[in-house]
Amino acid sequence: MPQSEPDAALNVAHAGVREAAQALRQGQLVGFPTETVYGLGADASQAEAVAAIYRVKGRPTGHPLIVHVSSVRAAQGWAQWSDAAQRLADLFWPGPLTLILPRRADAPAWACGGQTTVGLRCPAHPIAQALLQQFEAMGGQGVAAPSANRFGRISPTTAAHVRADLGQIEPLHSILDGGSAEVGVESTIVDLSGAQPALLRPGRIRQEAIEAALGSTLCAPSAASPQVSGSLASHYAPQTPVELIAAPSFAFRLGVIADTGERYAVWARRDCPQALLARANLLWYRAPESPEQTEQLLYSSLRELDLLACERIIIESPPAGSEWTAVLDRLRRSATRR
Ligand code: TXA
Ligand code: MG
Repeated sequence: MPQSEPDAALNVAHAGVREAAQALRQGQLVGFPTETVYGLGADASQAEAVAAIYRVKGRPTGHPLIVHVSSVRAAQGWAQWSDAAQRLADLFWPGPLTLILPRRADAPAWACGGQTTVGLRCPAHPIAQALLQQFEAMGGQGVAAPSANRFGRISPTTAAHVRADLGQIEPLHSILDGGSAEVGVESTIVDLSGAQPALLRPGRIRQEAIEAALGSTLCAPSAASPQVSGSLASHYAPQTPVELIAAPSFAFRLGVIADTGERYAVWARRDCPQALLARANLLWYRAPESPEQTEQLLYSSLRELDLLACERIIIESPPAGSEWTAVLDRLRRSATRR
């Protein structure tokens, strides 16, 4: 496995990164920021460390983890690389894109949930990069990291979210704080392991951009596609039930809801209608206008709305348009009851 020199400037800037990389090599877990959401990392080459991730997250063992690497060179140690992979990596790495590729026979299988493929991501966040570079310089091959939340719950976009969800787990070494995640929703996942490229999870890197890069259309995941836990109907869910309402029926439905007298938290791209302003049982929060801003604030908003302990969280569905696909995907899953 190739090793690369860590970027000295990055390591100086982020105290704790070196210790965290060392802890990973010793089999401990580390919470760390990425530009999408925070990850809970383990050394992907150590079976026990990877098993600890499944245990503390409560994640079913068949659900593979993404292996995080600092570069294409490190990714090539895990997968059978291809022209298509190179094209996407050239354009979108480091960044919020995960590639599913055939796993190399000599690459550890622990993180891959029994699949013959491996999910690879090269994150852009400077602390994630510094951590991975340090880790690889210490002989590590890749960091397996799911989002640092309990299974099925809301993904964390700040270090405080990670502390709230997983701060008490063993063997957690540390949580590196990189501020609020800039992208806010998980990476786009493209499966390049089958006959046709497929989009397994929508994210900030849009379908059109990937299709333009590949010169072919992406198909939807099929029964033959690898299993994706983010593709379970219910995921990213607050404790409070979420109701998603399409814009045309929004005003009418709100009137009905307001009349019940129960407390509702509302997240909408509009102000509270005049007629309902006096209703103290509607706790109104303005959602952002742009898909990018909505993605960035989505999970922290869901967490805040959840804390209000209302009867229900009422959310106005995003507008039509492919740039809203990632938001709609996460909202639909958060609105589906287990
Ligand atoms: O943005 C992200 O991708 C974040 C940050 C931390 O990098 N990670 C993340 O991990 O969202 P997680 O475990 O919450 O979601 C990873 C998804 C799962 O749905 C998993 O099934 C899928 O990636 N996945 C990983 N390896 C796979 C493989 N070999 N084949 C198919 N799906 C895979
Ligand atoms: Mg997750």
